[in-house]
Amino acid sequence: MAPVLLTDPAQILELVEEQHRQGKRVGLVPTMGALHAGHLSLVQQSNIDTDFTVVTIFVNPTQFGADEDLEKYPQDLDLDIRQLSTHNVDAIFAPTRETMYPPGSSTSILPPEVAKPFEGQLRPGHFEGVATIVLKLFNLIPANVAFFGQKDYQQTRVIGQMIEDLNIPIEIKICPVIREPDGLALSSRNAYLSPAEREQAVALSKALFQIESLVQEGQRDCAELLMAAKKILADASIHEIDYVALVDKQNLSPVRQVHSNAIAMAAVYIGGTRLIDNIILS
Ligand code: PAF
Repeated sequence: MAPVLLTDPAQILELVEEQHRQGKRVGLVPTMGALHAGHLSLVQQSNIDTDFTVVTIFVNPTQFGADEDLEKYPQDLDLDIRQLSTHNVDAIFAPTRETMYPPGSSTSILPPEVAKPFEGQLRPGHFEGVATIVLKLFNLIPANVAFFGQKDYQQTRVIGQMIEDLNIPIEIKICPVIREPDGLALSSRNAYLSPAEREQAVALSKALFQIESLVQEGQRDCAELLMAAKKILADASIHEIDYVALVDKQNLSPVRQVHSNAIAMAAVYIGGTRLIDNIILS
């Protein structure tokens, strides 16, 4: 059956409350559209874990910096709806900017400590925007479980901590990174890459996989591991590196020796496109 498409906050809330009255478990998949197989894997997981799946499509302006790609962010609502129609989605919530941020709306969430390094430092205000919109979506769609992709790993930690700190009655499930056959992590921003940049971009996942395989061979020293990863990026002429880091999975503080709770994270520019990726090393 085709999903119900709603744009009105009161209507989506009523629809979700009706599912709860019927004893159904509700799953929420928040997205900014431009859907790819990564998003669809979250939908599939929601279909497995819950009885009623709601996908939200909203390009949230408050999480984009002034010099970021808000206006050129890929958007094709009809295509997104067509994709979701073949994936057992029950409802789509696609509000307008004015609905989510009406004139005069001025409250926002102060994100937790884990939002400070990496993306938080390089993209000031980003996690404040993410935390605020995600909390608004949690309020409008009081789901049992919300599904997020591991690719935005720091985002999952920010949201997880917010849920804990604010006692939000929702479970979050983090689903694995979905990759192209050559290893490139799926991202809506991959659409910006020229064919040559697309070839170059594979070095990002290669660098992280190199860390993983050296760890499997017994290397634990982070300086050595990071040097090996940076060599792969340099060999692919990727010189604009925001970070390549080995950190604790929970609090994202740097580690010197890889332990069982470490994650490798990286953000680089390929031409004008900023890509991020990560690999959990446990
Ligand atoms: O990951 C995203 O697509 C966005 O940050 C989210 C969680 C939908 C909030 O706008």
